[in-house]
Amino acid sequence: LAHAMSHAPYAARRQALLERLGDGIAIIPTAAEKVRNRDTHHRFRFDSYFWYLTGFPEPEAVIVLVGGAAPRSILFCREKNEEREVWDGYRYGPPAARETFGFDEAYPIDEFDQRLPDLIADRPTVWHALGLDPAWDQRLMAAINVVRGQVRAGRRAPTTFIDLRGALDAMRLVKDAHEIDVMRRAAAITSAGHLRAMRACRPGMAEYELEAEVAYEFRRRGASGHSFSPIVAGGHHACVLHYIENDKLLPEHGLVLIDAGCELEGYAADMTRTFPVSGRFSPAQKDVYEVVLAAQQAAIDAVRPGVPFNAYHDAALRALVQGLVDLGALEGSVDGLIESEAYKPYYMHRAGHWLGIDVHDAGEYKTGEDWTTLAPGMTLTVEPGLYIRPGSAAPAHLHGIGIRIEDDVLVTADGNEVYTSTPKTVADIEETMRRD
Ligand code: GLY
Ligand code: MN
Ligand code: MN
Repeated sequence: LAHAMSHAPYAARRQALLERLGDGIAIIPTAAEKVRNRDTHHRFRFDSYFWYLTGFPEPEAVIVLVGGAAPRSILFCREKNEEREVWDGYRYGPPAARETFGFDEAYPIDEFDQRLPDLIADRPTVWHALGLDPAWDQRLMAAINVVRGQVRAGRRAPTTFIDLRGALDAMRLVKDAHEIDVMRRAAAITSAGHLRAMRACRPGMAEYELEAEVAYEFRRRGASGHSFSPIVAGGHHACVLHYIENDKLLPEHGLVLIDAGCELEGYAADMTRTFPVSGRFSPAQKDVYEVVLAAQQAAIDAVRPGVPFNAYHDAALRALVQGLVDLGALEGSVDGLIESEAYKPYYMHRAGHWLGIDVHDAGEYKTGEDWTTLAPGMTLTVEPGLYIRPGSAAPAHLHGIGIRIEDDVLVTADGNEVYTSTPKTVADIEETMRRD
């Protein structure tokens, strides 16, 4: 099977993790297949930690990393099976998987429970994502109990259990060159999807028609699909943050908010654009839009190495609150309104999150009272918004306007790189949507 991948970046991550294990052992399974209904399964999605360390796409697989003087990385996976391959498709099988994915050893997954006690014996520490999957916790404890039963044969059972997620989350927070390349491409595909929807939009269309335009472009360009359920929200539905029904007619004179991102080679993009269904902003829509855009630009400008994660949220918040005062939705000093959180009816989420294999990616935001300091390779979204619900206390002509603008941003050595690129100024959007 042509699989144009190099295992080098994944092997390098395993090596980096092995160096942290001491004499310990780490066990990282991929995700379980999930029944959708009756005998039909959801499309398989690997576990994100497993993917980070392997690039191995099949279900029913586990890796075991054995630290110490002679470190080994071992893959357990399905054996080849002609009959199953007729029904479900190609399987590598252990020998080809070992070669292709750069493992030291590979064995059939059916031998896992029998081999695990020997691997664990005399290892002082077990690293595992404890509590993530109770079935796996049990399986590990069963193996450990086998070793405990062998003490008179001189074997020692591990005494220390460490949640592997701490080490892996810290690694995943800073993207390597391979990840940066994939995420740039995921963002480019996502930008093309949003651009296609922006160009296709016409009064009289339904939300799902724009969803289809976005999905078409994602798949056409080779993304595996969406990295989260896409939001296509016409008019006041944009004020519902997790609106995913996408089943209403678009309002002829309203805005539409699209929050969608593709998944490419296991990595997420996450992007939002908001534009007028008619192709022309009304004065009120434009006023609110310009506030959100200025807040987003202020936030992007605050993304650089050496500053706390929260700095760009603060920059966005300050600009949004000033804008709400200018729009007549709030009264008072910006500092006072931030202190009293009077903006919360109109802006209730944070300005962004880590982005990577998961759309809300692994990585600490805060340690105790201290925000994580941005460093090159960290990747995040910048996504301020304003949501002026019908019936809110804001001036009536603003009611029903919901706007978010979201881009994907890499922290670089001297500032940042914005990955996503669909037009977002009022002039550029109107130009892109012009039909004459
Ligand atoms: N689409 C999910 C988010 O923006 O966080
Ligand atoms: Mn989003
Ligand atoms: Mn987001």
